[in-house]
Amino acid sequence: VNVPLLRPRPARLSRLLAALAEIENSGIYSNFGPVNTRFEQEVLHAVFSDIGACLTVSNATAGLMIAMRHAIGANPAGRRYALMPSFTFAAAAQAALWNGLTPLLCDIEAEGWTPSASAEDALIKRYGNEIAVIVPYATFGNGLDLDRYRRLSERHGIPVVIDAAASLGTLDEGGQGFGMGFPHPVIFSMHTTKPFATAEGGLIYCSDPAVADTLRAMSNFGFGQPRLATLPGLNAKLSEFHALLALAKLPEIDAVATHRTAMAQRYRERLEGWTFQRLTCRRQAITFMPVLLPERAAARRREILLRLGADGIGAGTYFSPHLAEHPYFADTCVAGDLSVTARIARRIVVLPMSDAITADEVAAVCAALSRASAIEGG
Ligand SMILES: Cc1ncc(COP(=O)(O)O)c(C=O)c1O
Repeated sequence: VNVPLLRPRPARLSRLLAALAEIENSGIYSNFGPVNTRFEQEVLHAVFSDIGACLTVSNATAGLMIAMRHAIGANPAGRRYALMPSFTFAAAAQAALWNGLTPLLCDIEAEGWTPSASAEDALIKRYGNEIAVIVPYATFGNGLDLDRYRRLSERHGIPVVIDAAASLGTLDEGGQGFGMGFPHPVIFSMHTTKPFATAEGGLIYCSDPAVADTLRAMSNFGFGQPRLATLPGLNAKLSEFHALLALAKLPEIDAVATHRTAMAQRYRERLEGWTFQRLTCRRQAITFMPVLLPERAAARRREILLRLGADGIGAGTYFSPHLAEHPYFADTCVAGDLSVTARIARRIVVLPMSDAITADEVAAVCAALSRASAIEGG
């Protein structure tokens, strides 16, 4: 077998020659051009029922940087922490550090692997006056209790930025696009490894169009007026070519998520008795298939992955190491109690998923994993 962990499937640019020629003829290659505008309008319609506003960014990391900078601006001085889970990707911590903030790492919930409400509450109690922004991660495209974050923000006067890097295509428990109606920025990635695959790209959603307008100006050198910097900014604009990739992927968004969900269900059936993420969404836009190794096999994880590799199967250990275990973050972040994170991270394995993975391939992966993780002689 040959089943790689990920098989990126962005739209085929080589089949979009007419649209490419149109970009060339327009002479507009970036700066919120017509293709980008069309994508923003269509994604707002298709995913967020035309409520609020969307803007593209060059990648989700730049989106997080801008949204966190915007959050700090609204805050009294002296607030220096960005509260986020340790069980996430490096991008959120780096974005906080670029803003001069110190990531304050919290634990996750044992079953859904999203930030633990009690861990967040405990850190807010301890550091509340010093927390500049709360940055929850919608882990692996799972749902989050966004109403709770809205209330938390109102109660404590702390802005929220949602890291929804893996969630474009996720439907919340009510069946709406994840994030719809949320008044704080929600940041999605359109990186080639994500279900909503382009090459590089990100999308910011916010129910408040005024916030989206400000973030757009910040993504364009802070130009609040033509060529006049009125805000902090950087260049985080999406090129017309990348916007074309996004526009061409949009019609597939439901089919991609539906296929991946069906294949995730196969994994759950084939690996009966194994521990999977508890879902709090109607449909998860799943990037890869996370599963916890049985406790007794966790110490042999490296060897199990090598065996899978020898069988032609790609697998990974996202997010292990978790943030607090990265050398740079160990030096620059402050961590709360991370005992659940540590327990989950040492057992996690992520298995192949893609737009085109077949049920037979899933069966082969499950068989190989069961073989590789069986106790020697038992
Ligand atoms: C949780 C999380 N946040 C942020 C990002 C950054 O996204 P991008 O690659 O678009 O900058 C990623 C990317 O994989 C991610 O997994």
